[in-house]
Amino acid sequence: MTAPDLLALESEALSALEAAPDEAAVEQWRVGFLGRKGRLTGVLRGLRDLPDDERGAVGAAANQLKSSLEAALEARLDALRVAGSAAMADDQIDVTLPARPLPRGQLHPITITRRRVERIFRDMGFNVVEGPDVEWDTYNFDRLRIPKDHPARDMWDTIWVDYEDPELDRRMLLRTHTSPMQIRHMETHEPPIRVIVPGTCYRYEATDATHEWMLTQVEGLVIDEGISFAHLKGTLESFVRRFFGQELETRFRCDYFPFVEPGAELAIRWKDQWLELLGSGMVHPEIIEAAGWDPNRYTGFAFGMGIERLAMLRWGIDDIRNFYQNDIRFLSQFRGAASQGAS
Ligand code: FA5
Repeated sequence: MTAPDLLALESEALSALEAAPDEAAVEQWRVGFLGRKGRLTGVLRGLRDLPDDERGAVGAAANQLKSSLEAALEARLDALRVAGSAAMADDQIDVTLPARPLPRGQLHPITITRRRVERIFRDMGFNVVEGPDVEWDTYNFDRLRIPKDHPARDMWDTIWVDYEDPELDRRMLLRTHTSPMQIRHMETHEPPIRVIVPGTCYRYEATDATHEWMLTQVEGLVIDEGISFAHLKGTLESFVRRFFGQELETRFRCDYFPFVEPGAELAIRWKDQWLELLGSGMVHPEIIEAAGWDPNRYTGFAFGMGIERLAMLRWGIDDIRNFYQNDIRFLSQFRGAASQGAS
């Protein structure tokens, strides 16, 4: 049984319920879907035979379906009872009728994932700070060692805002990454620094199954005396272990970002494939110097990870566009995931 099978079962059950003409037919429907030998009960029993990596998502969706079918059952019985008392005059209200169930809200899967990430880094001693979504190009690019006309700017397809500041020769844009907050935070704080910066970023790009034009990143920045690449590796490896709740193979490979030296991408082994999770590296000494600190004394590391990518891996979601289409059938599958995500 997969998520689409559950959706088909849901739509079949709901149309059968809507067609049930009286309370006896509703009872028959209940036995058929929710009874001891009912079809949904069969799915729930069969969960234990599913492979580990499918059981969580299918189980959450099946339990969610069970609650929504139970609510629909109550609502149908109410509707039949109201119809049954139609003999009452129009202006009479039957105060003995039970209240209609109210739909309950829930957290978005990206919020759940973001909170899980924040919790893990908080436990490692990081503070959580936020920065502006609408940013100056000087923070987004120049002060991260990406000057105007530098080819590295081509790595980011940018959404510009029609606003500039000719005096300081800077233009506004929707930030393409959370890295500008590295500079903003260094302006107002002194080492030791240990922060993460969750937030929304925007890129002018054609969307596909793994790319959205709006994405959520979590930036990390650590600056102190004696920070080395070993700290970067250890921090990120323990994050991966805790986020996925298991020992996964990780791989660091050289990557280029103008604001770090050396730079590295981190990939994890997932279903026989290497999947890139994040960009990272040692904060470039020129950036430490520009903040007014001696790069021979202070060193640091930084990283930037995509939250949608983490959520897709954790729940086996194969298309990133699901997150922002507001399809209640997709989103309601994460009901209950918030409490699991808290740990
Ligand atoms: C950056 O954005 C760098 N700022 C990361 C960084 C920070 C490097 C600090 C070094 C030090 P990149 O463009 O690779 O790098 O994006 C980082 C992560 O964001 C990617 O690994 C991916 O998980 C996610 N991401 C990037 N673009 C998209 C997109 N269009 N849709 C969804 N996720 C994306």
